Amino acid sequence: MEINWNELRAAASKAMSNAYAPYSKFPVGVAGLVDDGRIVTGCNVENASYGVALCAECGLISNLISTGGGKLVAVACVDRHGNSLMPCGRCRQLLWEHGGPTCLLDSVSGIKTMAEILPDAFGAHDLTDRL
Ligand code: THU
Repeated sequence: MEINWNELRAAASKAMSNAYAPYSKFPVGVAGLVDDGRIVTGCNVENASYGVALCAECGLISNLISTGGGKLVAVACVDRHGNSLMPCGRCRQLLWEHGGPTCLLDSVSGIKTMAEILPDAFGAHDLTDRL
């Protein structure tokens, strides 16, 4: 599947402009290309109870599932300047669940696979293989 990285980055930046980040003042946006061709997005949503903050990737996954599901093929996450931002550890796990090892990420050091940014990941297979 052809991946238009500029389109994905632009969608991530657009989502970033809607971020609710009054506490950290660190808006984040993310966009994912789904295997059926649609683009899903998310932005971070903070809370006065700081620890309850939702990362942009949480919104992305919610958007993915609530609009019909599917598998993530490629993901771009950006900061306020539109520069690539690495998903935090928890969010890598979220992306892994819905993208798997071959999903591509626009990383700070080039396009990488999820297998590269979350090596030896824990996943659904562990729940069945280890019975
Ligand atoms: N943040 C994300 O949205 N995604 C990440 O992968 C890293 C961190 C947000 C959470 C918080 O609202 C702000 O960035 C500062 O940590």
